[in-house]
Amino acid sequence: MRIEVPTPLRADAPLPAKWMDDSAISTPALLVDWDVVTANIQRMADFARRSGLDLRPHVKTHKSTYMARLQLEAGARGICVAKVGEAEVFAAGGFDDITIAYPVVGKLKLERLATVAQQAVLTLVTDSEAIVEGYEEVAAASGLRLGVLVEVDTGMHRVGARPELVLDLVRRVVKSRSLRFQGLLTHAGHAHSAADPLGVALVAREEARILGGLREAIEDAHIEVPVVSAGSTLTSPYLSPDDGITEIRPGTYIYNDLRTVASWSCSYDQLAVSALATVVSVDGDRVTLDTGNKTLTMTNDPVYRFGHVLGRPEITLERLSEEHGVATMSQGSVSVGERLRVLPIHVCVWMDLQPEVYVIRGDVIVERIAISAFRRSF
Ligand SMILES: Cc1ncc(COP(=O)(O)O)c(C=O)c1O
Repeated sequence: MRIEVPTPLRADAPLPAKWMDDSAISTPALLVDWDVVTANIQRMADFARRSGLDLRPHVKTHKSTYMARLQLEAGARGICVAKVGEAEVFAAGGFDDITIAYPVVGKLKLERLATVAQQAVLTLVTDSEAIVEGYEEVAAASGLRLGVLVEVDTGMHRVGARPELVLDLVRRVVKSRSLRFQGLLTHAGHAHSAADPLGVALVAREEARILGGLREAIEDAHIEVPVVSAGSTLTSPYLSPDDGITEIRPGTYIYNDLRTVASWSCSYDQLAVSALATVVSVDGDRVTLDTGNKTLTMTNDPVYRFGHVLGRPEITLERLSEEHGVATMSQGSVSVGERLRVLPIHVCVWMDLQPEVYVIRGDVIVERIAISAFRRSF
């Protein structure tokens, strides 16, 4: 059945009451497979429950209050965001337990933080005294006592205090009257660089070893550590409360992507998202799609290049310009106007580039949902 969809699509427009096939939407558009996404949500929730770990999904992957609600319904304890802009959207959407796993720096952001802190219970992270001082100002301005986790560098070398400096920073937070020391947090994103599955496991075990050891040292200093937050899509399966970990924060698992496949951390049938593309030009073995780097981003991979075309392994996306995705086709044929689906190399970045996603079941579109925190990465 075909139905008319207003163009341009508005993220907040009510959904048509009927199902539609994809010819009713303009490309490029992002599709989310309902059966795959709900299975992904359930699988991680089951793992966390069985393991006795709290689940706090990182919602930067989907940026959608709709998807986050599904995660909470499946058992997640709260959510994690990266940016104050995301926290604002989710707090306004009724989410009342939010960890901002990113250092909040600068007067303007700290002022916004004070406002969000009135709407939701926020947990903040620090890896330096300067950041602690900023949070103290927010606490003073808002009259709230803010929960703070000390972020630990367990090998990614992006943010986080070096393990040997953590105890001093913990003491600094504990000393603060306006802050409440909540525990430790880390992100072992370097698991993506592991050379083999054993390498991913080793990164996770090191993450657990460092955090578990720090927890013991802090408790030996008679300081309580209510939360020890670690674990991504790649490393969560290797963590347990026996390590001293209390919480995991996987993000990508809800949709997965070809990076996750390439890191031995999901199977192909667990990929929930694709970009619907239209073939706009064909010349011999050159096939050009309307998905350029404004849709797919420049992220690429030695195996899948700029994204894999679903069900068409003979088509390789070799290069992108802004609105063109240029592929070579080793056999078979395609025609101008044909629609193909491109699987993401890194799905999280796609969600900052489109205002909405279409939920599909089989070949039909059943719902359109807003990416609530679209362009809120500030
Ligand atoms: C601080 C932090 N926590 C958790 C995550 C979730 O990691 P993943 O999406 O690999 O599950 C990320 C991802 O970038 C992150 O930066």
